[in-house]
Amino acid sequence: MRLINIDHVGIAVHDLDAALAEYERQYHVGAESREVNEEQGVEEAMLPIGASNVQLLSPLGPDTPVGRFLAKHGEGLHHIAYAVPSIDDALRHLAAEGVDLIDVEARVGGGGHRIAFVHPRALAGTLIELVELQ
Ligand code: CO
Repeated sequence: MRLINIDHVGIAVHDLDAALAEYERQYHVGAESREVNEEQGVEEAMLPIGASNVQLLSPLGPDTPVGRFLAKHGEGLHHIAYAVPSIDDALRHLAAEGVDLIDVEARVGGGGHRIAFVHPRALAGTLIELVELQ
């Protein structure tokens, strides 16, 4: 298991346009990409910050993972994404360690990268996303 870097920090927001405008106004940071993921019920924007990114997430409806998160916690930190060289190796390692995985198999996430989520109960209440970088 090797983590390359923090690929991005995911932040849940109610209003993506409003949050993007605030990042622009307060930090002069804009979105490099923006996409709707119907399967996950979310719209995402990626804001490059040095070698990493902030990912803003807004739900397509209340009955979606991010919609339920917002109802429970309000806006704020949603997940941390670590880049890994091989997501299959990383998932094999975590499964062997008995770590509670949300995704046992990788799936395709934003930007076409292979991703997987690890359950927050596995470590310090933090939802972790693994992103395969190559
Ligand atoms: Co993410």
